[in-house]
Amino acid sequence: MPVPRHVAIIMDGNGRWAQARGQPRTAGHKAGVKPVRSCIESCIRAGVGALTLFAFSSENWARPGDEVSSLMGLFVEALDAEVDDLHANGVRLRIIGDRSALSVRLQSRIAAVEARTAANTGLQLQIAVSYGGRWDILQATRQLAARCASGALRPADIDEGAFAGALALGDVPDPDLFIRTGGEKRISNFLLWNLAYTELYFTDVLWPDFDAEGFGAALDYFASRSRRFGQTAEQRKGSA
Ligand code: IPE
Ligand code: IPE
Ligand code: MG
Repeated sequence: MPVPRHVAIIMDGNGRWAQARGQPRTAGHKAGVKPVRSCIESCIRAGVGALTLFAFSSENWARPGDEVSSLMGLFVEALDAEVDDLHANGVRLRIIGDRSALSVRLQSRIAAVEARTAANTGLQLQIAVSYGGRWDILQATRQLAARCASGALRPADIDEGAFAGALALGDVPDPDLFIRTGGEKRISNFLLWNLAYTELYFTDVLWPDFDAEGFGAALDYFASRSRRFGQTAEQRKGSA
């Protein structure tokens, strides 16, 4: 059974999960930590090499201030609580997104966790915080433009490889499988460049309820797809 090398997930539905229980939205975000752990374990078990989780988008800054600060507090708590286990399991953790917008406290936690797990060769885990696909494309463009201006790069040398390399996931293969929980069928400014040929899987399950069984169903869906990358099925068979 083909296993995706890289799975990317939009973890959506925390607020509705909490509201359905008469609880504040922030209770849903707290309940969303457990499925993160479960997905990491599932990836390790299934042999998925990389996992990227969308935790907070560029647009989520526009939410009510108390929800934003509660989420930021939760990120610090979760990093503190999980780093030992992640490290023990050989996980390399990196945060992708616009860090300049994060508090100094969160930035220093991130730097510490990344440094501690940097040499790990197990699951490559990326958490997207203050991330937007458009932000990513712009920051890559700025990097390449600066290299051109300094004479280190010629505009003609900007090909797909060079551009992809300047993106936040520059050293991670494109996602093979995208999962969005919470019922919406949209990308919401996640990995715009990288999802070009990704298999898309949507489920109505709200993120706090997404468990190993749900993840397994997404892997089964992936295994059932015929990926052609623009070619014919016959050509793909020939190259397989
Ligand atoms: C996803 O859940 C978590 C974040 C975007 C931070 P939501 O908070 O979007 O939950 P719903 O979609 O309102 O239910
Ligand atoms: C996408 O969810 C972002 C994350 C899960 C972090 P949103 O809840 O922000 O997306 P929209 O607003 O429904 O498109
Ligand atoms: Mg949502």
